[in-house]
Amino acid sequence: MGVQAIRRDYSLSGGNRDAVELDGDRITGRIDDQWWKPKLSRQQMREIMRRRDGPGLWHFGLWFVLLGLSAYLAYISWGTLWAIPAFLVYGTIYTSADSRWHESGHGTPFRTRWLNEFVYAIASFIAIREAYLWRWSHSRHHTHTYFVGRDPEIQVQRPADLIKLLMDFFYLRSGPPEVWRLIRNACGRPNPDVRDFVPERDLQRMYWSSRVHVAIYCAFIVWSITIGSILPMMFVLLPRFYGGWLQQLLSLPQHAGLGEDTYDHRENTRTIYVNPVFAFLYVNMQYHLEHHAMPMTPFHALPKLHEAVKDQMPPPYTSLWQAYKELIPALIKQATGDPDYRVIRPIPNDPETEVVETNAPVESSGEWLKVGPVEDIEEEEVIRLDQGSRTFAVYRLKGDRYYATDGLCTHEYAYLADGLVIDGVIECPLHNGRFDIATGRALSAPACDHLETYPVERRGNSLYVRIS
Ligand code: FES
Repeated sequence: MGVQAIRRDYSLSGGNRDAVELDGDRITGRIDDQWWKPKLSRQQMREIMRRRDGPGLWHFGLWFVLLGLSAYLAYISWGTLWAIPAFLVYGTIYTSADSRWHESGHGTPFRTRWLNEFVYAIASFIAIREAYLWRWSHSRHHTHTYFVGRDPEIQVQRPADLIKLLMDFFYLRSGPPEVWRLIRNACGRPNPDVRDFVPERDLQRMYWSSRVHVAIYCAFIVWSITIGSILPMMFVLLPRFYGGWLQQLLSLPQHAGLGEDTYDHRENTRTIYVNPVFAFLYVNMQYHLEHHAMPMTPFHALPKLHEAVKDQMPPPYTSLWQAYKELIPALIKQATGDPDYRVIRPIPNDPETEVVETNAPVESSGEWLKVGPVEDIEEEEVIRLDQGSRTFAVYRLKGDRYYATDGLCTHEYAYLADGLVIDGVIECPLHNGRFDIATGRALSAPACDHLETYPVERRGNSLYVRIS
């Protein structure tokens, strides 16, 4: 006899569980500490996270060229049978903007900030992922990956609805609700889930950005109606639907059929080897487990990260076929009587030696805390300094300039010493919020509140921080 499949409540009823537990002012627990993390030395992490413009310019430049070229071929083939393959190619490249939205939303493809933001704005529009809404949604996804009631981006909800999953190969399940959500936001009437994860300060911006998206889509619809041809809409909006097959093929196995409510990405995320064309269109997101384990890794460094940590991960799937061979029966089981079924992945034992480095003050004198010898911090680097229940970040910038700030990000309390120093800015390792190191000013969402800064003095060969 079949078991009654009871749908879990995937609305954000669980709320944004505080990122920290507090005892008075003292932080006694952090969500980020509960997540499993790969063991890498700071040197390895620094090398892997390093930002460069070159690979991004190459990659995204080629993508824009391919998009333009395929659009031209589609246009000149209109009215012939060649239009079918031509538009299929164009729609597939167009929809792969979704992966560009994702990568640039993390702020990782380019070292130059405005290049990330430029690509993000264009890709958000093409992929129908309004920029403000999805930046907040995705940061929540990374904090609470596949926690029911907290993660707004659980793609396959149990029990799996197979018809809907198939419909999404043409964006027919997720597309219309997404367009409706965009319209609601343009009207200033977000649904409760959106209200839950977009902070008040960004609501007006989200409304205006949504209005711009809706206005452009409407212009193309009116254009099509006016000339009595669907052709304009075949280039904007509709490609996200008719060209959605590859995006769904690649993204469905990211988490589907795996665990929920676990603090180990190895139990809820897959890495799958794919061919170079798919890897290009997917911006290397086939290394999805590595991406979740270290979201600051630029797309071009993901293969390197994979090599560095693969002994700590479950074996990768050698092909999409291998992943689907596991995924399809799992989803059928969930849909037809065993909604709690999940695939269990083999998890290797962690290496015995902990190689992640932290720093503790050597000694203190009054309000001044001795950090240690100057050589302990490399140029353009940051170290963590713990004093009792307090954590600081101490930086060395070019030209022997030293600074100190609070050591925890003001968004969800990630250790800033695990982040990246770029041109006088510290970028948070969790959601890429950015702070000016000298002033502590929050520069970009989701970091909104500023950091405290503290004076640093060099005495001889030692550094001191004044902590009060
Ligand atoms: S913890 Fe979210 S930006 Fe730092």
